[in-house]
Amino acid sequence: MNNFTFYSPTEFVFGKGTENQVGELACKHGATNVLLVYGCGSVVRSGLLGRVKDALGKAGIPFVELGGVQPNPVDSKVYEGISLARREGVDMVLAVGGGSVIDTAKAIAAGVPYDGDFWDFYIQKARVRKALKVAVVLTIPAAGSEGSGNSVITKVATLQKLSIRVPELLRPCFSIMNPELTYTLPPYQTAAGIVDMMAHIMERYFTNTADTEIADRLCEGTLKAIITEAPRVMADPEDYGARANLMWSGMIAHNGTCGVGNEEDWTSHHMEHEISAVYDVTHGAGLAVIFPAWLTWMASHHAGKVAQYAERVWDVPVSDDKKAMALEAVARLKAFFRSIGMPVTFAQLGIEQPDIDLLVKKLHEDKGEEVGFYAKLGRKETREIYELAL
Ligand code: NZQ
Ligand code: ZN
Repeated sequence: MNNFTFYSPTEFVFGKGTENQVGELACKHGATNVLLVYGCGSVVRSGLLGRVKDALGKAGIPFVELGGVQPNPVDSKVYEGISLARREGVDMVLAVGGGSVIDTAKAIAAGVPYDGDFWDFYIQKARVRKALKVAVVLTIPAAGSEGSGNSVITKVATLQKLSIRVPELLRPCFSIMNPELTYTLPPYQTAAGIVDMMAHIMERYFTNTADTEIADRLCEGTLKAIITEAPRVMADPEDYGARANLMWSGMIAHNGTCGVGNEEDWTSHHMEHEISAVYDVTHGAGLAVIFPAWLTWMASHHAGKVAQYAERVWDVPVSDDKKAMALEAVARLKAFFRSIGMPVTFAQLGIEQPDIDLLVKKLHEDKGEEVGFYAKLGRKETREIYELAL
């Protein structure tokens, strides 16, 4: 196990009706003027936004609103939010929504006190040294942004989808998680969220770091819980117990716990971010296509930990043939993704002829000539993985 620091100061408030506590929580965390950020209408239609506004009003906290954040959020909305927040003098950015809304809120929170262009943080030209407080009312378990210090934004002019990781400043001060708020999710979004949280665990699990037993077991146990709960929620979207387990799994998957002490991989995410930047697909659906392809490549080149994953997560019988075990795990993973309605090929994702030259070029321009840690991959290898996803 490697040395690590783990700082996770978020107050999680979980359960039925908890969104009504948003006013008192905002007060408790020092808010005096709030920027309320939300997406393209689901929180308006469900009545959640109204309840959040009522709760802020009752607590005597003024707020201004920024709606219209789109999935795969873009830089223009961040600039709009930074201007609004500065003009109104807000001191907390409250995201009511999913990863796209939360990531936009985080980008605004980092951008407001910074003199330069917020995009500097995403291209690693500057580090976030100060940020407004971020808080969350979560509506979809998926990105895990409610517990992470990460934000992923797309710059439209260059089609770059890049992330920052600033746990010491951008983890939300509180996150409200009411599983009932997820009942209205379309099945496709529920399923894409399930894939995303599994991917967050697997990016951490596939490591060469030795002596990671605690992290391994947390990863394997959480993956098994997700695999059990997913069919329940797909069959009955209002199964509170299953929704609750999935909502908490999404947080556990990405707040860092599953990877402390590990050298994490993240290649599949970087490869997917190029797909969602170019083709604007749902992140989790893109991962359902890429992760099995990455694992298939690993079965032939670095099967060790994939065989362990096969045995412990997918109950594949142990044999001396680690490659065969790994391939069986890929088959079971794909079958699981298909069973919840996710695509497992580019064609099923709606991209008949992906521009693999472009994806490979952008990936290595954005992330360097070598990507990944479980196996270090150059242009030739990442091309092979994209091709395995056809
Ligand atoms: O915009 P509205 O109308 O709210 O609709 C959203 C959106 O269309 C809808 N939705 C959300 N909650 C709903 C709902 N519809 C009905 N009922 C509800 N309760 O779902 C759609 C997707 O929302 P989005 O916020 O985009 O989903 P998600 O949480 O999957 O976030 C995806 C974004 O997060 C990034 C992804 O790349 C993508 O841009 N990620 C962020 C990470 C992080 N910050 O740590 C890590 C991830 O790996 C990921 O990259
Ligand atoms: Zn993800």
